[in-house]
Amino acid sequence: VSRPLQSGKVYLVGAGPGHPDLLTLKAAKVLALAEVVLFDALVSGPVLAMAHPEALLIDVGKRAGRKLLTQDEINRLLIHYARQGKIVIRLKGGDPLLFGRAGEEMEALRDARIEFEIIPGITAAVGAAAAARISLTDRRVASQVLFTTFSRESGENWLNWAAITPDTTIAIYMPGAHYSQVAARLVENGIAPGTPCVVVSNATRAEEQVRWLNLAALAEGERLPAPSLLLVGRVAAKKAEHWRESFRPEMFLRDAESKNLSI
Ligand SMILES: C[S@@+](CC[C@H](N)C(=O)[O-])C[C@H]1O[C@@H](n2cnc3c(N)ncnc32)[C@H](O)[C@@H]1O
Repeated sequence: VSRPLQSGKVYLVGAGPGHPDLLTLKAAKVLALAEVVLFDALVSGPVLAMAHPEALLIDVGKRAGRKLLTQDEINRLLIHYARQGKIVIRLKGGDPLLFGRAGEEMEALRDARIEFEIIPGITAAVGAAAAARISLTDRRVASQVLFTTFSRESGENWLNWAAITPDTTIAIYMPGAHYSQVAARLVENGIAPGTPCVVVSNATRAEEQVRWLNLAALAEGERLPAPSLLLVGRVAAKKAEHWRESFRPEMFLRDAESKNLSI
């Protein structure tokens, strides 16, 4: 991490899905020296705790639908602190370039001629797949992965449904409070109600929960606490889950712990 001499620099940093060990080394290094950290609601406490003790921490996240700051206000703050010569972090859950409005922020920084750098993070879909222990591209049943959300303001039919083949794994971010609406949209657009899906809530965090269903059951299923993500497609089949259950990695971790091996 290099410190510019005169003007500051903004780092758009991915905080990963929650567990602090899932931060990149580079993210941890920059967090330890940044003077200002603007963070989203999804950034976990243990990750924030890695910031410099004297850093100015600013919560710019949305909570329960209430926006704390507008995107313009966030852009202005980034520019303001960078112009004071500070190292500024824009800390976002998962990866900063996926569903995180980084496009607008980079444009504002470019316009203001502020130097910036992206530090990638582990996106929620990848954290959720790890929690559920499924391969998003298991070559026996999947040929492509679609990262998407239905919560876009850009209208109902922006998704290219024709591109969603039976061997597509769909990772749905921000499924909202009503899984039934998500299930209905998928089924209306030709995805079979029997298609397997997994709901992962709080992937990689202490509160992590995983539910194995299919689209028909999803419509009636209980809602899991936010943040949650849906993985839909043949890779999410329960049969594969049974297979995975018989090879629980914890068995091996416990073995390693009992032998005092570091893991
Ligand atoms: C505004 S999007 C930001 C995505 C983020 N930039 C990323 O790459 O993961 C927020 C959505 O990410 C998903 N998400 C983030 N963290 C999660 C986690 N630990 N477990 C499950 N879903 C998560 C949820 O669907 C949540 O509504």
